[in-house]
Amino acid sequence: MKKLLVELGDRSYPIYIGSALLSQTELFTRHIKSKQIVVVSNETIAPLYLDAVLKNLQDYQVETVILPDGEQFKTLDFVSQIFDKLLACKFSRNATLIALGGGVIGDMGGFAAACYQRGIAFLQIPTTLLAQVDSSVGGKTGVNHPLGKNMIGAFYQPQCVIADADLLDTLDDRQLAAGLAEVIKYGLIRDADFFVWLENNIDALLARDKPALAYAIERSCMNKAEIVAEDETETGIRATLNLGHTFGHAIETGAGYGTYLHGEAVAIGTCQAADLSRRKGWLTDADVDRIIALFKRAGLPVEPPEQIDSARFLDLMAVDKKNVDGQIRLILLQRIGLATLPVDVPQDLLKMTLNTYGRR
Ligand code: NAD
Ligand code: GLY
Repeated sequence: MKKLLVELGDRSYPIYIGSALLSQTELFTRHIKSKQIVVVSNETIAPLYLDAVLKNLQDYQVETVILPDGEQFKTLDFVSQIFDKLLACKFSRNATLIALGGGVIGDMGGFAAACYQRGIAFLQIPTTLLAQVDSSVGGKTGVNHPLGKNMIGAFYQPQCVIADADLLDTLDDRQLAAGLAEVIKYGLIRDADFFVWLENNIDALLARDKPALAYAIERSCMNKAEIVAEDETETGIRATLNLGHTFGHAIETGAGYGTYLHGEAVAIGTCQAADLSRRKGWLTDADVDRIIALFKRAGLPVEPPEQIDSARFLDLMAVDKKNVDGQIRLILLQRIGLATLPVDVPQDLLKMTLNTYGRR
């Protein structure tokens, strides 16, 4: 097992990465300071892994909340079901919430933990590649609104993250590829050597080679932990984690939540951001070709959906947490391995990308 630390002073916490971690009771109990525990999961994941988690919690008062599966249920209404259970069971402020699932459950469970009685402890047990390399680390929690993705939320850090790579055995290929989009992101924004490693090892990752997956998870978490330690609440460098996300969120919202997986939308959005970075004079044609080629080899889409035209893109991109005074600001690439902070982009260049990149 590897242990990384997210260094945030007295709110620092470990990320455990390895195999067979769900059977290590001590990993759980070490981070639980209460008798009352609520485990939040969904209808797909609970039948696979809930019993394994519950086995570690035999000495506690445990309740479960099993939510429907899907991005379309990442809403305030469904977070309320968690509050309903906590209140009905008279859970106190020292209760602990365990989020067992992918990014949707992690974001919702974390947000419920942040809000219930103004904050209870929570543990992240990420079950998708995307959640293990990104969403479970760093304390961004929240839900979607019909007018914008992740628009309601809070920064709220967990007590620990338990990333058991064995759980990925039951993940389907499409979801695995979606997770790779966020893995590739780390190479692009700050780790050029990792980008090259990914070019050389993408086939092993797709074949679910265990050492390759473990290395990719660890290197991704290392990058994320360093960024979060430096800029927990995204006043600067943390925004670089949003490479491709402004385009991507527009695709997710515009196509209807759940149509594109988050990682798929990020893959397309990152290719759009790369195209725009080339127009700004930063990336070369060859860089853009390498980036698109790697996403394609990972089995990810690289072209925006036809039904979202440039006017609709601009409308959707106007609702983004990086915008200032209504001005769209984007993360772009100065080179492979170096992202910019949010930049104001000339409308004519942005429109050129929206009208031409990936349009037949
Ligand atoms: P997800 O949570 O919807 O999970 C994907 C699918 O895989 C679901 O159907 C789920 O039930 C299923 N699943 C999960 N684990 C499984 C397993 N081990 N075996 C079989 N099936 C399994 O999607 P995701 O890609 O994990 O997360 C996407 C969400 O994460 C989005 O809402 C996105 O906004 C959010 N996100 C948050 C952050 C953050 O920093 N908080 C970062 C990136 C993404
Ligand atoms: N996934 C973006 C962030 O954690 O900041």
